[in-house]
Amino acid sequence: MTAACPDRVNVLLLGTGGREHAIAWKLRRSPRLGELWVEPGANAGLLALGKVCPEPISTKEAFRLNRWCDREGIGLVVIGPEAPLAAGFADVLAEGDRVVFGPSKEASRLEWDKAWAKQMMRTASVPTAEGKSFTNLDAAIAYAEVREEPCVVKAAGLAAGKGVVLCDTAEEAVEAVRDAMERKVFGEAGDTIVIEEKLDGPELSVMALVDGRTLWVLDPCRDHKRVGEGDTGPNTGGMGAFCPVPGVSEDLLASIERDVLVAIVDVLNREEIPYRGVLYAGLMLTPGGPKVLEFNCRFGDPETEPLLARLESDLLELMWATATGGLDGLEVRFDPRAAVTTVVCAEGYPGTPRTGDRIEGIADAEAASGPGEQVIVFHAGTAPDPSGGPGSIVTRGGRILAVTALAADLRRARDLSREAAGRIRFPGAFFRGDLAEGVLRDTTPAATVPTSNA
Ligand code: AMP
Ligand code: GLY
Repeated sequence: MTAACPDRVNVLLLGTGGREHAIAWKLRRSPRLGELWVEPGANAGLLALGKVCPEPISTKEAFRLNRWCDREGIGLVVIGPEAPLAAGFADVLAEGDRVVFGPSKEASRLEWDKAWAKQMMRTASVPTAEGKSFTNLDAAIAYAEVREEPCVVKAAGLAAGKGVVLCDTAEEAVEAVRDAMERKVFGEAGDTIVIEEKLDGPELSVMALVDGRTLWVLDPCRDHKRVGEGDTGPNTGGMGAFCPVPGVSEDLLASIERDVLVAIVDVLNREEIPYRGVLYAGLMLTPGGPKVLEFNCRFGDPETEPLLARLESDLLELMWATATGGLDGLEVRFDPRAAVTTVVCAEGYPGTPRTGDRIEGIADAEAASGPGEQVIVFHAGTAPDPSGGPGSIVTRGGRILAVTALAADLRRARDLSREAAGRIRFPGAFFRGDLAEGVLRDTTPAATVPTSNA
């Protein structure tokens, strides 16, 4: 189904957050972009870049949405988050000549069903934590009770990044099992759980574009999940990320490509489940080699912000090629500079954040860069200020802005991102100032040369 990318493509982008703002920002740089449409409910950054689709975004209303896409000549639908993939939007919106960037419901099961993903990994001999899946409470408790080693209890379904509990003792594991299966704290997502060994090591996010057959590995990223500096406090959706990651050798990346990404895509193909879209491997670099913690079926957030800030190639062309089986022969180029994204959060996050505060200082933040540098402020949880003038925006949600800096090396990019984040002003704003500290401590500046693609 390879088809050349048309000269002018109207795009509908699903998703409302920071990842989608970065995608929209990059799509806007493509000479092939026609009209860009965003969801109702998109953040203020997205609203400034696209027109609002007037139709409800619901698979139940797929008929209306398809009719609207036809009327507006939408050539490409880009699906940002996991929920619409799990709901099957990629299947229902791929009508006629329209192309969808994002895997089918069946293929995105790798993300929405961790028990199934585990089974596929076993079939593909993908290195991952040893684990077992349960649908029965008593069986899960019996297994958890006799665990002598620390373990991890995971809701198998989509739980907005919250369904993973790290347990040091058997008692904690039993409680985590009861929370998921008996008290239903993750809703239906916890009807099936996975209990697996707890691994140790630095984490790495490796994303690839996959067109069904051909796969292109993108520069590796690292995100920071814990809310507090020094990796303390509860997990969040991500307090920041950077790209590339110093110390990730070409050999390591090649082994991840072969043993993880190609291996799983091959097994899916054998099951007649073609994979088209972004395949994200969340890995832990253990002393025994890289092991998969999870697969995601979309760009990571906040990893997408530093990743796309560095992308030099035309994102629209790449998405088109990915969706149509045309990646073979294309090249993906990255800016050699390092990128760091600092996420500015609202007071209370990752619990219940305060919302509705006016945000100031975005232009100041973007002006923080020196020669050969750049600061881009991507919006995550923002909304137009209902009572303010044009351009006035307010907080809406926990992660508010993804302040992204590009600079010659990782340390400078981190410092610049931190300085720019400090220029953002709203009551209770906070962020982590120690992003990338671990690798900056361990690497000399000479080692911060970006990894090139395999
Ligand atoms: P996941 O949503 O599966 O990526 O899990 C979220 C976070 O939990 C990961 O980024 C890790 O920090 C942690 N985690 C998940 N699985 C494990 C594991 N088997 N061992 C140690 N930490 C884990
Ligand atoms: N940053 C992790 C994720 O997007 O799931």
